Amino acid sequence: MEPVNVAVIYYSATGTVYALAQAAAEGAEKAGANVRLRKVAELAPPEAISAKPAWEQHLQDTAEVAEASLDDLAWADAVLFGTPTRFGNPASALRAFLETTGALWMRGQLADKVYSAFTASNTAHGGQETTLLALGNTFYHWGGIIVPPGYTDPVHLQSGNPYGTSHVAGSGPPNDVALQAARHQARRAADIAAALKAGRAA
Ligand SMILES: Cc1cc2nc3c(=O)[nH]c(=O)nc-3n(C[C@H](O)[C@H](O)[C@H](O)COP(=O)(O)O)c2cc1C
Repeated sequence: MEPVNVAVIYYSATGTVYALAQAAAEGAEKAGANVRLRKVAELAPPEAISAKPAWEQHLQDTAEVAEASLDDLAWADAVLFGTPTRFGNPASALRAFLETTGALWMRGQLADKVYSAFTASNTAHGGQETTLLALGNTFYHWGGIIVPPGYTDPVHLQSGNPYGTSHVAGSGPPNDVALQAARHQARRAADIAAALKAGRAA
């Protein structure tokens, strides 16, 4: 059986979600998957970016990360999406990418894949669950198979969010618990995608 293909597609302004995305990519690789780590295009105007040094710096630091394309979605057996919480919702840059997927959706090419999501917010009650559930709405429309972490590993009891790995950015960069949770979530998504692939081939 060929390894499964896992795309980790994220938006990050100041690096928090990028760190989680890197951990998710590692977790999927550990599960034996082919992995593509992809950022979505930055849409903010240059003056907004340059007004926040950490944003400008992160853009420079991740200049080499490839941008997500529709081919990444078509290629993937499982997709993990990462986004900061923005007023309780996914960031508009990620939404903009999702809203380019109409043709794939109409051809049924987004259905029957595994989807999972992770996020960060500044505060503990700042909307992590609402962001993850909002992304879930799109997965439902696609006919996706949503694979949340639940509490399937003890690390999720520590990180505390069964809807998807999340981190409180206001308390600093992602710690070991958050990174381990992201790795486990991706490993689980890859494992379920592999089981589906094997079942379909049988
Ligand atoms: C426009 C905007 C809206 C935000 N809304 C929220 C929010 O609703 N709740 C919250 O806790 N943090 C909010 N934040 C903080 C971001 O979630 C936080 O900066 C982000 O998780 C950091 O991720 P990043 O480093 O990957 O960009 C907001 C930030 C911006 C710029």
